Amino acid sequence: MSKKTVSTILQQKKDKRKITVLTCYDYAMSKILSSQDIDILLVGDSLGMVKLGYESTLPVTVEDIIHHAKAVKRGNSDSLIVADMPFMSYEVSVQEAVKNAARMIKEGGAEAVKVEGGIEILDKVKAILDAKIPVMGHLGLTPQAINKFGGFKVQARSEADRKKLLEDAKALEQAGVFSVVLEAVPEDAARVVSEALSVPTIGIGAGKYCDGQVLVIDDMLGMFPDFTPKFVKKYANLGETIKGAVKNYIDDVREGKFPSEENTYK
Ligand code: KIV
Repeated sequence: MSKKTVSTILQQKKDKRKITVLTCYDYAMSKILSSQDIDILLVGDSLGMVKLGYESTLPVTVEDIIHHAKAVKRGNSDSLIVADMPFMSYEVSVQEAVKNAARMIKEGGAEAVKVEGGIEILDKVKAILDAKIPVMGHLGLTPQAINKFGGFKVQARSEADRKKLLEDAKALEQAGVFSVVLEAVPEDAARVVSEALSVPTIGIGAGKYCDGQVLVIDDMLGMFPDFTPKFVKKYANLGETIKGAVKNYIDDVREGKFPSEENTYK
């Protein structure tokens, strides 16, 4: 398998080859995924919900992302590793945005960062890009704006919002991002954006016309018990598999069947 880079991702859109993205937060999963030729591993701030048990992504810190990015990096040398910039790590000033993005690269080992927002954060996006750090945009349902949206709701339903989505996407492209995540927007709105941009769109709940797809790994493996958004397809039900395995272990220990001869040093 060959190393995925920002250039290979951009080429995939030109060649009309769909881009595959999964979130990843730890070494073991990173190693498993590295055997499967996945294009991008996103160390998403979704880790706050699926790994740390917060109700939203808002409490996640730069240190949290760096800690997990390091582990992901150690498990995978082929996928492009993108680190999410958590809430309030890039909004306050251009200087802080660049400093925190640089930490993702220098300390976390990521090769690009992702930021949520459009025209309103363009100065930060440009400054990060000027620091030679590739940026992935994120529009539509941006979970860091959950308090503004009043919940995890589908975005870009009105004509005005669809126009704004397209303007934001074009502004990000002009600034130089290498891709734009579109989250929870109607399929036709995502299609318009995907056709208007020369950089790839990565959809999550944005339909089939996006140039690539991303899912939260815990959702698609059936490991996150709290809720499952409509746009998630469960490719496995590991939560149930784990429960079965743990029940067997408890039964074996209680009945004296574990450890057996083969698990015992003589
Ligand atoms: O944090 C995350 O996992 C994300 C993806 C859902 C795109 O931002």
